[in-house]
Amino acid sequence: MAGNRTLAIIKPDAFGAGKAGKIIAHLEAQGFKIICARVLHMTTAEAGAFYAVHKGRPFYDELVTFMSSGPCMPLVLEKADAVAAYRAAIGATDPAEAAEGTVRKLYAESKGRNAVHGSDSDDNARHEGMFFFGAAALI
Ligand code: CMP
Repeated sequence: MAGNRTLAIIKPDAFGAGKAGKIIAHLEAQGFKIICARVLHMTTAEAGAFYAVHKGRPFYDELVTFMSSGPCMPLVLEKADAVAAYRAAIGATDPAEAAEGTVRKLYAESKGRNAVHGSDSDDNARHEGMFFFGAAALI
């Protein structure tokens, strides 16, 4: 059975532009409940560790630089089948390909500066939740 939690991040582009409130309201209106939230400015080491799975890919350095360029807002969100539901709510990685009404269509600038992150599996949701919130993400 699919899990009911996922890890979201409102990325530095959206957080810095004052879009966090609108994005959270959008997600709450779709039934996501906030379980954990914090604001932090990641170091390059922290951003590199979070995205370690992408190390070696052509966009990795740019991704790490961007994610450590300013404050971001990680959230643990709860909803039935959370990973799939949240990925549907945020839309495709590239906002140019995201469906109408999705968070990325509404608030993202580009594939790199794409407003939000979302876990891509239940295992990664647990791992990513632990990264930012420790066991609180699981309680
Ligand atoms: P995110 O969901 O945070 O997971 C990895 C991120 O890498 C992705 O969103 C994009 O912002 C970023 N990225 C930049 N370029 C690419 C690319 N060519 N393919 C996939 N992801 C990319």
